[in-house]
Amino acid sequence: MVGLSGSGKSTLARSLENNLFEMGYLTKLLDGDNLRSGINNNLGFTDEDRTENIRRAAEVSKLFADCGVVTICSLISPTAAIRSMAREIIGDDLFYETFINCPLAVCEQRDVKGLYAKARKGEIKKFTGIDAPFEDPVEPSLEIRTDLHSIEECQAQLLDQILPKIKPQ
Ligand code: ADX
Repeated sequence: MVGLSGSGKSTLARSLENNLFEMGYLTKLLDGDNLRSGINNNLGFTDEDRTENIRRAAEVSKLFADCGVVTICSLISPTAAIRSMAREIIGDDLFYETFINCPLAVCEQRDVKGLYAKARKGEIKKFTGIDAPFEDPVEPSLEIRTDLHSIEECQAQLLDQILPKIKPQ
């Protein structure tokens, strides 16, 4: 799941995991914020570090996916190059780029973590969408517009779109 900070990735990823768990699927959620407090705690937000962040997340996802675990990754993954690296690592047949699409202005207005305000004041440098790039996915496998629909609607859309993609191994 790809998108700006505040777009709703983590919320939707958690609800997707809960829904799939209740349906009997074995799942694993890898979230950028959590990975960055553990396996990726030596990485910052330079282009190189973001690339390494996604590379490690993709390699770990691949290990889970190889065991048949439905692995939900929620990371900004800001550039097309970063996302195509993840696709290459995981494999075209197992990778679904899900764009959690929400305009910057709406994410910034939500500012759940107060980070956009800090970025605007220059207290956080290289913040995605402010002074670091976010390239919208051109042809995502799935897309959810969290600015246009309620959380419940987005959760239902995501589950509906994902279920047919889950293949027994
Ligand atoms: S990614 O760009 O490398 O994919 P990732 O998803 O792991 O990012 O982490 C994003 C989270 O880190 C954001 O939701 C936010 O809480 C926090 N964060 C801290 N600094 C930044 C920054 N400069 N740019 C974006 N997110 C940041």
